[in-house]
Amino acid sequence: MEAAHLLLLLCAYALTIPTLSFATTDAYPAVPGTDSGDCSLSDAHISLTPTRREVYGDGRIFDISHRFSTDMPAFESSEGVGQFVWLAKSMKNGSIANNSEMKLPAHTGTHVDAPGHVYDHYFDAGFDVDTLDLEVLNGPGLLVDVPRDKNITAEVMKSLNIPKGVRRVLFRTLNTDKRLMFKKEFDTSYVGFMRDGAKWLVENTDVKLVGIDYLSVAAYDDLIPSHLVFLKEREIILVEGLKLDDIQPGIYSIHCLPLRLKGAEGSPIRCILIK
Ligand SMILES: *[C@@H]1O[C@H](CO)[C@@H](O)[C@H](O)[C@H]1NC(C)=O
Ligand SMILES: *[C@@H]1O[C@H](CO)[C@@H](O)[C@H](O)[C@H]1NC(C)=O
Ligand SMILES: *[C@@H]1O[C@H](CO)[C@@H](O)[C@H](O)[C@H]1NC(C)=O
Repeated sequence: MEAAHLLLLLCAYALTIPTLSFATTDAYPAVPGTDSGDCSLSDAHISLTPTRREVYGDGRIFDISHRFSTDMPAFESSEGVGQFVWLAKSMKNGSIANNSEMKLPAHTGTHVDAPGHVYDHYFDAGFDVDTLDLEVLNGPGLLVDVPRDKNITAEVMKSLNIPKGVRRVLFRTLNTDKRLMFKKEFDTSYVGFMRDGAKWLVENTDVKLVGIDYLSVAAYDDLIPSHLVFLKEREIILVEGLKLDDIQPGIYSIHCLPLRLKGAEGSPIRCILIK
């Protein structure tokens, strides 16, 4: 189907939706490239330039997931992720539709860790990404900046003064300033939790969703020990590789949805913040 036809179909569909009384017009986003509500024929001839956005709804919704690309970093690799999607069936080659196939390590890009990632008995018992609690992954939370001169130690955690009752925190670090997620080569000097920082969080806060801006919440030097501390009780969910650039620290509604991959201890995850 040509894009123009698809657009017309979308317009026809939109017109069949009964007019509900929305408080503001931005509650109902327009089809990109159209004036909201205007489905005149001329809109079908807009230029075929896709829109890629980081922010939606006039600055209300932030996409904090990284776009998958061949050059995004992969853990302990200098080569990046490489090709991960192929056109397995193509119209140019006579198929009735284009159909891509993809192959991706489960802990690529913005992703989530399930308890089976570092605990073999949890893996065997089936604590995969399909068992993660969507209530933890969705709800109010904080975006905080951590000091840029240290990894996240107990001392740093203490200094952040995260109030009791806060259940979701996204930690923005030097990784964002260094744009590490935009660099193909994996960098072991990334900032993450040291074991004592993870322990402090577990013992002194109500935080159950921990998000960070590089491929691991744990600093490279404490890679497994920090993961073990976080995932031991199977209460904390770790979201890694978040894109936290150009967002004010503060309170947001966090929304993260992993794929329901049975048997996988990791999954790509789409996360957004809503003001
Ligand atoms: C994919 O499908 C479109 C039609 O939607 C066609 O124009 C295009 O040539 C196809 N691409 C390839 C590589 O076959
Ligand atoms: C179409 O098939 C040819 C021959 O098998 C192959 O070389 C080419 O890459 C294919 N093109 C696409 C877009 O799949
Ligand atoms: C954080 O720890 C890593 C090793 O895991 C180290 O290379 C890096 O320099 C540390 N970063 C800071 C800011 O101290």
